[in-house]
Amino acid sequence: MPLRQTAAAQGGAPAPLLEVVDVTMRFGGIVALDGVTFSVADGRIAGLIGPNGAGKTTLFNCLSRLYRPAHGDIRLNGRSLNDCAPSAIAALGIGRTFQSPTLFDSLSVLDNVKIGGHSRGRNGPLADAFTFPGSRREEHELDRAARAMLAFVELDGAAARPAASLTFAQRKRVELARALATRPSLVLLDEPAGGLNQEEVAQLGALIRSIRDQLATTVLLVEHHMGLVMSLSDQVVVLNFGRVIADGTPEAVRGVPAVSEAYLGTRH
Ligand SMILES: Nc1ncnc2c1ncn2[C@@H]1O[C@H](COP(=O)(O)OP(=O)(O)OP(=O)(O)O)[C@@H](O)[C@H]1O
Ligand SMILES: [Mg+2]
Repeated sequence: MPLRQTAAAQGGAPAPLLEVVDVTMRFGGIVALDGVTFSVADGRIAGLIGPNGAGKTTLFNCLSRLYRPAHGDIRLNGRSLNDCAPSAIAALGIGRTFQSPTLFDSLSVLDNVKIGGHSRGRNGPLADAFTFPGSRREEHELDRAARAMLAFVELDGAAARPAASLTFAQRKRVELARALATRPSLVLLDEPAGGLNQEEVAQLGALIRSIRDQLATTVLLVEHHMGLVMSLSDQVVVLNFGRVIADGTPEAVRGVPAVSEAYLGTRH
């Protein structure tokens, strides 16, 4: 039996689903991530916060293999992602949304969600083109998963509408459904509350909680909306200039002087 299952079965601390180990990422002379190390246990909501330019999106891009860190390791369920292609990320169990919603306006809402599922499909493009029985089954499964996730974000009534007809908040929920349609074990949300009004932020909070509680999906949440992060997160990791300056419960992190210094840009 793998070690992590043994530990969990013995009632120890839950084994980490995600481990980020000493990750360093440079852009020319800029060190965007500098020896970043933290882990997230299965079934948690982890907030990743920090001032503008702290390296949050860069870390997401490393987690989804769009960027290759100069140094360090990222492991999901104990498996290193170092040799993993960006196209294999969904199949490994990582879903993500982007800081700016990226929907295809002319496609239906349902098709926008299904695009996420295609990246997890077992059939290649050739099988898809000839609609072999296996790929028809897969298409049916994809359709079912996409509709289920649209219902989860309460947009099933909009499935046939073009994405162009949606409000900004609805577009963000479609992105969320797309990230979830691959049934990831870890979902990365990059500023899901950005541009939402107060009521929409409250609805989003409830939705993120149900991602953890109903779908049993672990959430890594990048967000500037402090009220949302602090109320939702089981754990908060704070980045500043590419370094982890705090990692703990929301209460513990709130009390770390370096965190308020980072946000206020002053020493107390
Ligand atoms: N592709 C890139 N090329 C060069 N520099 C980059 C690139 N992506 C990010 N950076 C730099 O890396 C640093 C971290 O940027 P990043 O976008 O990860 O910050 P962030 O924490 O997501 O900020 P924000 O809260 O504003 O979204 C910044 O100095 C940024 O200018
Ligand atoms: Mg960012």
